[in-house]
Amino acid sequence: MRVLVVYESMYGQTGAVAERIALGLTRIHTTVLTTVPRATADEVARADALVVGAPTHHHGLSTSESRQVAAVVAEQGLTPLDMRADPLVPGIREWLTTLAPPDGCRAVAFDTRVDGPTILTGRAVHEIDKGLAGAGALIVAAPESFLVHMDSTLVAGEGDRAEAWGLTLGATLSALEE
Ligand SMILES: Cc1cc2nc3c(=O)[nH]c(=O)nc-3n(C[C@H](O)[C@H](O)[C@H](O)COP(=O)(O)O)c2cc1C
Repeated sequence: MRVLVVYESMYGQTGAVAERIALGLTRIHTTVLTTVPRATADEVARADALVVGAPTHHHGLSTSESRQVAAVVAEQGLTPLDMRADPLVPGIREWLTTLAPPDGCRAVAFDTRVDGPTILTGRAVHEIDKGLAGAGALIVAAPESFLVHMDSTLVAGEGDRAEAWGLTLGATLSALEE
């Protein structure tokens, strides 16, 4: 299977998680890791499965406004992390509205969010799942959240958990092929 891992990341933490998920997947499948502006319609058309991830902003997917707030947060030193993306470039929310996966394309969502009860933090994965299903992709596994601290740095051990999740997901995708 050819799996396309697509992510959005303001400070690089969702990107780090996506890299480890791709590492797990790549042990079983041909895996392509890409950021949302680079995930073109041609790339999507070649995918048998999509694994899509984003940071949680204001309980859901980022918006143009929240991405600009992220830049201010970094400028003001409220996180030790630097901005890794242009806040004016569209994110997963916008990408999902134009998504046209090939027939039978499988899909799974992940996000990063603050470590705490989801009633307080929200999760971006619900909107990702909705967008993927709305575009016609088949959701084949439960979405997963990977945790950050209040300052947006990744919680210790989450990278390893992401790689293990990627490997399990790879096996799930293989079982669906049989
Ligand atoms: C504007 C803004 C709003 C945020 N809102 C939430 C939120 O509602 N819930 C949450 O768990 N985390 C929230 N966060 C923290 C992000 O989840 C965190 O910055 C992200 O996981 C880091 O990933 P990234 O480095 O890939 O951007 C917010 C961060 C920013 C900048």
